[in-house]
Amino acid sequence: MKRSKRLDKIPPYLFVKIEEKKAELTRQGIGIIDFGIGDPDLPTPAHIFKKMHDVLELNDSAQYPTSKGELSFRKAVADWYKKRFNVTLDPISEVCCLIGSKEGLAHLPLCFIDQGDVSLIPDPSYPVYKISTTLAGGEPYLLPLTAKNNFMADLDSIPNNIVNKAKLLYINYPNNPTGAVADKDYFVKCVEFCKKNNILLVSDLAYSEMGYDGYVPSSVLEVPGAKDVTIEFHSLSKTYNMTGWRIGMAVGNKEVAQALATIKSNIDSGAFKAIQYAGIEALSGSQDCVKQNNKIFEERRDVLIDGLNTLGWNLKKPQATFYMWVPVPKGETSTSFTEKLLEKCGILVVPGNGYGPSGEGYVRFAITIPKERIAEAIERLKKNRISC
Ligand SMILES: Cc1ncc(COP(=O)(O)O)c(C=O)c1O
Repeated sequence: MKRSKRLDKIPPYLFVKIEEKKAELTRQGIGIIDFGIGDPDLPTPAHIFKKMHDVLELNDSAQYPTSKGELSFRKAVADWYKKRFNVTLDPISEVCCLIGSKEGLAHLPLCFIDQGDVSLIPDPSYPVYKISTTLAGGEPYLLPLTAKNNFMADLDSIPNNIVNKAKLLYINYPNNPTGAVADKDYFVKCVEFCKKNNILLVSDLAYSEMGYDGYVPSSVLEVPGAKDVTIEFHSLSKTYNMTGWRIGMAVGNKEVAQALATIKSNIDSGAFKAIQYAGIEALSGSQDCVKQNNKIFEERRDVLIDGLNTLGWNLKKPQATFYMWVPVPKGETSTSFTEKLLEKCGILVVPGNGYGPSGEGYVRFAITIPKERIAEAIERLKKNRISC
């Protein structure tokens, strides 16, 4: 059967290849220490589980949900945004429930990108921004994130002919894969740039609750007037260890939230109601679980970064996310170093170039394994004389 040209334009999803490699080595009896996909290993908090059990007993979730989400869920999202960021949202028009934020991010370009339109996309970045733009017929224009620019794209360097064709600008702070954070001045700059050039600002805030050393990330919607040009994607996946539950939200500009709901109503019919009710419990219940998770991730971060620094790296500890963006030793590439770690040490990381060409020269460690395993990985590196 002949596949569409559209499908031929996109590569296999990054983690599909990595999971295949892991399965192959596991079959060979190699005990892999897996720093690969960013999927929290910690359990979903008990009170969220209990809510799910209770609502299933009520048996009122079997019918189609609305594509925008239950109003009670959208109210819980608006209340959480108010409490957390002091941002006011109208739950009726400015909040849309998602089947995980990946779903919303993947559908968004269908609402705004026509053939030949441009999306301004950070490089490296979460692959879905680029792939969904391509699937919609648009042209991704990559904005390099480098150590030199503190992993914040230089908007002034974008040529005018590209700015004129641009419909979307993506930002993601705290950032996957670099672990970088951005200050409010940068958010102000992005909002002004989008207003001036009639571009929709797409903020991906999936990691806002994972801050360390007292750092508390902000929402772009805190910038006065941001709502005129911004849609922000968020998710319960990483905050509450709910990646498999598939629940997230898009908030901000009402025309954009409405456009997304229109696409969704024609494609997916919304998120399972029982999961939305459990999501309400997550957002409105005690947030102690978030603090406890962060304490664990902070300890793991310290074990990894301190360990790598004893082996010759000179890494600063990221203030947010569970991603450590680590430059490869001299003479290595992202791919060669990933292969070396896997074959010599049984350590699985993600090659930085999988997130875009500017990721070349880095690998990403996701600290989603216990600190004892991280310490063991450092020992394996020592034993195999791997240093920077
Ligand atoms: C930057 C970023 N955005 C969005 C997502 C999607 O998360 P979900 O679809 O589970 O809400 C991820 C997942 O890894 C991510 O890293």
